[in-house]
This record gives sequence, structure tokens and C-alpha cells, in this order.
Amino acid sequence: MELPFAEPYKIKMIEPIRRSSRQERERWIQDARYNLFNLRSDQVYIDLLTDSGTSAMSAAQWGAIMLGDESYAGASSYFKLKEAISEITGFPFFLPTHQGRAAENVLFSALVKEGDRVPGNAHFDTTKGHIEFRKAIAVDCTIDEAWDIGLNHPFKGNVDLAKLKKVLDERPAGKIPMVIITVTCNTAGGQPVSMENLKAVHALASSKGIPVIIDGARFAENAYFIKTREKGYEHKTIREIALEMFSYAEGMTMSSKKDALVNIGGFIGFRSEEMFRKATTFNIMFEGFITYGGMAGRDMNALAQGLFEGTEFDYLESRIRQVEYLGNRLKSMNIPVQYPIGGHAVFIDAIKLLPHVPRKEYVAQTLAVELFIEGGIRGAEIGTLMADRDPVTREDRFPNLELLRLAIPRRVYTQNHMDYVAAAFENLYARRNTIKRGYRIAWEAPIMRHFTLSLEKLQP
Ligand code: F0G
Repeated sequence: MELPFAEPYKIKMIEPIRRSSRQERERWIQDARYNLFNLRSDQVYIDLLTDSGTSAMSAAQWGAIMLGDESYAGASSYFKLKEAISEITGFPFFLPTHQGRAAENVLFSALVKEGDRVPGNAHFDTTKGHIEFRKAIAVDCTIDEAWDIGLNHPFKGNVDLAKLKKVLDERPAGKIPMVIITVTCNTAGGQPVSMENLKAVHALASSKGIPVIIDGARFAENAYFIKTREKGYEHKTIREIALEMFSYAEGMTMSSKKDALVNIGGFIGFRSEEMFRKATTFNIMFEGFITYGGMAGRDMNALAQGLFEGTEFDYLESRIRQVEYLGNRLKSMNIPVQYPIGGHAVFIDAIKLLPHVPRKEYVAQTLAVELFIEGGIRGAEIGTLMADRDPVTREDRFPNLELLRLAIPRRVYTQNHMDYVAAAFENLYARRNTIKRGYRIAWEAPIMRHFTLSLEKLQP
């Protein structure tokens, strides 16, 4: 019998979590005004709100924490991180930042101007936010296949080259400061971008003199998908693949809270010294001096170690197959999931699952609340609440899909936890036709409303 894969680590330290009663959960979610961000983490049994900053660090990372050099300038931890980044990504210059959106803030301050267009595959919300905040426009050029959830396509994160070419042809290169490729594409469901597509995007952008920037938050998971799905890469290592991916870009932003297996941190990588210099002033203003930029020395040490651990094939295989295991279990129960299953999360189509709840009553949020009540599981709404209002008409913006995202933290939960989530879904599925009404907004902030809003339950 062929031996199955299993996690390439054992557990050294545990953190208790507590099951609760349905009655408790009904009270807690009502007190939280039906916003899952308002729950206390100890009211949650399995927390799938995000895979960001929620990884379990290794003994080697905790050991590295104790060796952090907290010098303001020229810390050894900075040089250790610089070496790790240049080895894994190939970028000779870098700036540390406290997380991914800070990297966006610094880089875009240097490059993005009012009236610019920034094309790419579906931009993550903070990326889009930092572009729109500068009165520029993020243009989504993702392939149409990405939004057909049942369609089996190996690289649903790919850029549609014809859409990209149209954007590049329509405007002078000076009004397009960069093309941003997010790997894997979170917004499209954690879907990967192929090497062939990265190469083609780079060739197209370069022909106009426009730099390509990779949002590399989940670059290692993307490299795993290239290795396992793209011809010609099956014998290459994850690190060889990552180096080739980054070779098709002039720079990168990184939220280290994902694939680099740390709880906080980020960075910007640059090929050219000129771009690095442009961004440096903003880094000093917003983040800190260039050899720490918003990170403690100890956190830079843990990140340097995490970059190596996060690009080990055996780790990636167990991580991605755990997500796939949960996704396939849900799929086998006829639960409509984005397919193939993404790298970091399972995305569930709420409109298909709860056909009686009107979209204007926030169907993905309704599903998220029901899952919490069913099993104390916290997911995230990626639907109309998150899409926010149109800045001009102030009407709700209805996105392509109403999704519930179950993001799986790295090295944190076991197969039993995944089975528990699947069982809760089975119960929820059995009573789906009894769920007929959703919510109305009782209070919301003018932007980024989903984090803080209050909801009122609509009575059948
Ligand atoms: N880019 C991508 C693709 C992301 O998924 C995120 C964060 C960021 C940038 C911003 O990084 O949080 O370190 O400032 N995504 C988290 C999520 C929050 O839950 O998907 P950050």
C-alpha cells in the first residue's frame, strides 16, 4: 500500500479552545450585532476568519526570536532577512514594513498618481483601497473563467492578456505606473497564476516600459500549484519556481503574515536601485528607518526563518491538501464551492446554498452567521457588505459572487477540526430551506464598512 502524506511536523505546544452550546452562540452573535468581527476569539471554536497572521510558528522561529537584534540601524536581524529575501525572491533591494498594506502604502506613494490606471488580476481590497485613495483606478483583468465557480480550470487567477492589452493600449505608459499580479489571487478564491501567464504579462508590460509588481502574499502556494499543475515544472523545487516567478517582475509587495509563516511583518522587494531609492523616503516617514521599517529585530529573524520553512514542498503539500480535503468534503455534500479548491481557503457560493435569502439582505453574511450558530465556526463574508457602496450613487455594490470564505490558518488545525467543520455544514445544509430572511444594516461606517457595521435580523 502506498503510504499517505502527512504533516512534516509534530506538535510541541498547544493552545486550548472551547466548544460552546448553541444557546450561548445565539446570544453571543446577537450581542455582536451579527458582525463576526465583533465576536471575542474565545467565543469561537474554529476560527477561519483569515489565514493572515494566524500561523503557528516553529521551534526554530521561536528560537530565532530570542536572537533578535533590536538596534535601530544596521541590526544583524536586518541583514539576515535581506539575505533570505534575496535568496528566495532574487530581489537585491528590499524595505521592511509592518505588514502587507504598509508595503502597498509605501510603494504606491512613490509610484501611483491621480488619474492613473493600475491593471492586474482581481486586486485585494487593501491594494484597491490604496490605489483608489490616490484617485487612481484598479482595473480587474482576471480571466472570465475565474467567476464560473464550478468550472475546472487549473489557473483561475490568470490575467486575460486581451483585457490587459486593451488597458495598456488605451492610455499612455506614463499613466500606468505598474501592472500588479497577485499570486495566488485571493479575491478570485485563492486561485493560482501560471508561469506561462506571468511570463506573458511581463513581456506585454515590458514592451511598453511598464513595470510588473507581484503581490506575493501567497507566492509559495502559487509555486506549489505551478509544480503540481504546469507542464515542465514537476521536477523543479518550490524555490526554483519562486525565483522564476519573481524574475518576471520588477518588484514585489509582501504580507509576510501569510506564506512566510509569521504573525506580523511585510516587505517590498525591488530589482532597481532607483525604485528602491524613490520608496525609501516614504518608508522612513510611514514605517521606520530602512533597516527595521516597522518590525522588531526579533520579528525580522522569525520572518527570515519562515521564508525558508514556507517554501518547503512537504509543508506546502500538507497545508494545501488540508484545504483541499475540507473543500472536497463540502463538494461531495453538494455544497457549491469555488473549484478547484484554492490554496488558502474554501469559498462557498452563498446564493446557490441559500436560494431563499434575497441578495439585498446580505446572503453571504447570513450564511456566515448560520455557520457560527451551527458550530462556533467563524468564516468571512466576501460579498455585498465587503464590496461596500458605490462612491458616487451610494447604492450597495453587488460583486460577481456572494461568497463565504473559510480561510485555514497554517499549521494550526488538524484533520479532526476539518471533519468537525464538514459535519457542521452537513447540519446547516439539511436546514437550508428554512433560512428565508437575512439582515438589514443598522449602522455602518462611510468606508470599509464590513469591519465595524451593526446588523438587524429580519423576521420571516
Ligand atoms: N495582499 C493580499 C493578496 C492579501 O490577501 C492581503 C491581506 C494583503 C495584501 C494585505 O496584507 O493584511 O498584511 O496588510 N489579506 C488578509 C486576508 C487580511 O484575510 O485575506 P496585510
